[in-house]
Amino acid sequence: MLDETLFSEDDIGQALTRLSGQLTTDYAGCAPVLVTVLRGGFMFLADLMRAVRLPLSVDFLAVSAYGPHAGDLGTVQVLKDLQELIAGRDVIVVEDIIDTGLTLNYLLELLRAGRPNSLSVCTLLDRSVRRIAQIDIEYTGFAIPDVFVVGYGLDYQQRFRELPYIAKVKIESSS
Ligand code: IMP
Ligand code: MG
Repeated sequence: MLDETLFSEDDIGQALTRLSGQLTTDYAGCAPVLVTVLRGGFMFLADLMRAVRLPLSVDFLAVSAYGPHAGDLGTVQVLKDLQELIAGRDVIVVEDIIDTGLTLNYLLELLRAGRPNSLSVCTLLDRSVRRIAQIDIEYTGFAIPDVFVVGYGLDYQQRFRELPYIAKVKIESSS
């Protein structure tokens, strides 16, 4: 089921160094809030926040997409909302992967309604070939082709999140 490794621990480490450096520079003098969408983004968030040299806070959102595929109908249900107010704060949404962009598009609208001072997006993976909703992504780890990936927080049916690297999966039919 697990196929070839797409990004090794070392590759991910290099992306973390680059992204955390950019964030540290771009947000110098600020104390941003990192907002992560559970569950996939937790590992990236944990490593990213240890590498960014700024005072940070974290908050979490949990959503469920209606339909068999995430974001199929472009409607998401918020299962867990933010715990803190973000009015006047510099908010950075930390995502595992942006695929169709439908989930994030919805969440960005929700976050804008909270009147943050600024709002940006930092994603580990960007699969832009499947994009439906136009989204500006300020910080990207890796662009990936149209393959399903697992590891480093990302799952296939709740499996493989624990892998320290990112691999392709071959989805075998059960029949
Ligand atoms: P979308 O951008 O609304 O289509 O949905 C993105 C969400 O679906 C991501 O944040 C992931 O949680 C999940 N997802 C999309 N592609 C993959 C993948 O290749 N592996 C694991 N989860 C994925
Ligand atoms: Mg996600």
